[in-house]
Amino acid sequence: MKRILSGIQPTADSLHLGNYLGAVQQWVALQDGNDAFYCIVDLHALTIETEPQAMRKRTLAAAAQLIALGLDPKRCTLFVQSQVPQHNQLGWVMECITGFGEASRMTQFKDKSQKSGSDRTVVGLFTYPMLQAADILLYQANQVPVGEDQRQHIELTRDLAQRFNAKYGDVFTVPDAHIIKGAAKINDLQDPNAKMSKSAASNAGVIDILDSAEINAKKIKSAVTDTGKEIKFDEKNKPGISNLLSIHSALSGKKISEIESEFEGKGYGDFKGAVAEVVTSYFEPVRKRAQELLSDESALQEILDEGGAKARIVAGETLNRVYDALGLVPRITNQR
Ligand code: TRP
Repeated sequence: MKRILSGIQPTADSLHLGNYLGAVQQWVALQDGNDAFYCIVDLHALTIETEPQAMRKRTLAAAAQLIALGLDPKRCTLFVQSQVPQHNQLGWVMECITGFGEASRMTQFKDKSQKSGSDRTVVGLFTYPMLQAADILLYQANQVPVGEDQRQHIELTRDLAQRFNAKYGDVFTVPDAHIIKGAAKINDLQDPNAKMSKSAASNAGVIDILDSAEINAKKIKSAVTDTGKEIKFDEKNKPGISNLLSIHSALSGKKISEIESEFEGKGYGDFKGAVAEVVTSYFEPVRKRAQELLSDESALQEILDEGGAKARIVAGETLNRVYDALGLVPRITNQR
């Protein structure tokens, strides 16, 4: 069985449609036939200053939504990064084998630090990719399902694994990026040339999974569309309609061409109504299930505790091998 690892930051109150179709849907598919570990990376989220209340709420909400969307804690290991101290421990080792210049070339760091200026950029943002490498290497992951924007971080992870193995002996599995393509590219409803993202200037073009059917139907009906009146997939000239077609197709399972012919001769209004129906009927049960899970926080925390316990066993084994390979003197008793 292949070992899979991926992570998601708890940085928003709700996951959005882009998260689901761009990543989580793949995670759900990959839990069968693989040994999958999915991590809510709260330590990474600390690189953005967050109210403690919000951090706790978002971490639990992420867990509830992942389960409601189909991750089954019996078929995969779902856990919270901060509950597995080996992530920080291996993170330090990764920092000690990463070049300063190498880290400085990470485009996500460059983008984010440019936006906020060097005085307001925290060091954690700089070392973020090394912690991410630790997340992956601790579990000896073969594959890391991520979006295109994470490719460089996975490349770095591979380099670090190979560097360590060459110098200290074969400890790490060198992981492959499993870049999620296809229906994955869901754009903002108000700005259909930009990816749907929680950091969009306005929330009007983002479908949040925990929002009510009314709110989401309204957002879809107010989606920016293109001039003309045909329902046709044409990303260049009709980005708005194409985006809605992609969303419909991904959730209804119908081919784009089928949907096009279904709406031949009909207007944008009818089509948007149908997309709203597809989206809200898909996510209504998910939202209810997530809310149910959130109504019993201790039960949810227990699920995460169990995932954390499983994760610590695997992570602990890898870390022991790493420390040993590095020549760190082991403790000879575990009693204290
Ligand atoms: N950096 C990833 C993102 O922003 C999140 C992440 C952290 C991750 N650790 C990971 C993804 C390990 C995959 C594997 O999406």
